[in-house]
Amino acid sequence: MSKQRVLLLGATGETGGSILQGLLEDPNSFDVEVLVRPSAADFPRIKELADRGVKVHSVDIASLPELVKTLVGIDVFISAIDPWSQLAQLNLATAAKEAGVKRFIPCAFTTVAPPGGIMALRDDKERVYEHIRKLYLPYTVIDVAYWYQLSFPALPSGRVDYASVFPRLGVHGDGSMPTMLTDLRDIGPFVALIIKDPRTLNRLVIAYGDVLSENETFRIMEDLSGEKINRVHVSIEEVIASRAGASAALKADPENVGARMLAWGEDYKYSKYVRGDNTPEHAQYLGYLDARELYPEFKPRSFTDFVGELLAGKVQKPYASRAEQIKKFKKD
Ligand SMILES: NC(=O)c1ccc[n+]([C@@H]2O[C@H](COP(=O)([O-])OP(=O)(O)OC[C@H]3O[C@@H](n4cnc5c(N)ncnc54)[C@H](OP(=O)(O)O)[C@@H]3O)[C@@H](O)[C@H]2O)c1
Repeated sequence: MSKQRVLLLGATGETGGSILQGLLEDPNSFDVEVLVRPSAADFPRIKELADRGVKVHSVDIASLPELVKTLVGIDVFISAIDPWSQLAQLNLATAAKEAGVKRFIPCAFTTVAPPGGIMALRDDKERVYEHIRKLYLPYTVIDVAYWYQLSFPALPSGRVDYASVFPRLGVHGDGSMPTMLTDLRDIGPFVALIIKDPRTLNRLVIAYGDVLSENETFRIMEDLSGEKINRVHVSIEEVIASRAGASAALKADPENVGARMLAWGEDYKYSKYVRGDNTPEHAQYLGYLDARELYPEFKPRSFTDFVGELLAGKVQKPYASRAEQIKKFKKD
């Protein structure tokens, strides 16, 4: 098979950074190019990409003609755009269709859940999938479960706080609901396998490393660290009430960034721990292919392996370069 020309949007982000790494590790399969916003073109991190031999296109994604020109000749377009900007992908899909892109990977990269009022963020993504299907644009939706990097509990010693975005101690319901989890670093290698596989064209694919309940993730942390975690028990009723409160607060102040983040967070808890959406069985019901079955030769990191690295001080904190922005979100 000849090399695929792949254009990636989001290479400077968390998901996109993992995808970029995964693609660059397979130089026999991919020629990798990135799309960045014009205002970011001179940033050192973009220059670093160019120094690594990655072709950089600086394009305003609101401009359809500019996008079409950039996308002509691209085999696979991957969007790893931030959660706030999901609907900007409508224009990207239209341009991809016009340019004859052979496969469009919209920004899914989330947990499994049905559309329709369970997760507002998912519903934004589903609007993009609907648009893609109306265009008959070839696509693959790739979901990746919930990152290990956001799933580990804090320890009383503070030993793992260095890698923690939002330190967590909550156990929801009785803590036994299983949920799929993935190491952020494994997203890239999974994507590299999925986009060169004809079986995944016009399909949904779920990629994950482990299926664990909160009781299990907490126990793994305790066993490996030798510390006893002070769990905060949150009942199902409390999850439902917090979600309703967060949703009302957002409705009252839709432009409030902190309120939106809080509402997304509550949707995740409701979907993962109350409804139990994010499981391999529900993925199968919803029509997903399972990347673990498609690529048995690829061994994703286990949560236990991840915790070993975490305790050894070797895990990178997501969004570290955006720490100030996240502090602001928490204050608002
Ligand atoms: N499964 C999970 O546990 C999990 C966790 C977090 C996120 N997610 C999902 O992953 C997806 C990506 O989120 P993320 O947190 O990885 O994103 P992120 O780190 O915020 O990165 C977003 C990327 O999009 C780029 N971008 C945004 N607007 C752009 C524009 N107009 N033109 C060009 N580039 C633009 C950003 O570029 P700049 O650097 O220039 O801003 C950045 O590279 C989200 O949809 C979210 O739902 C899933």
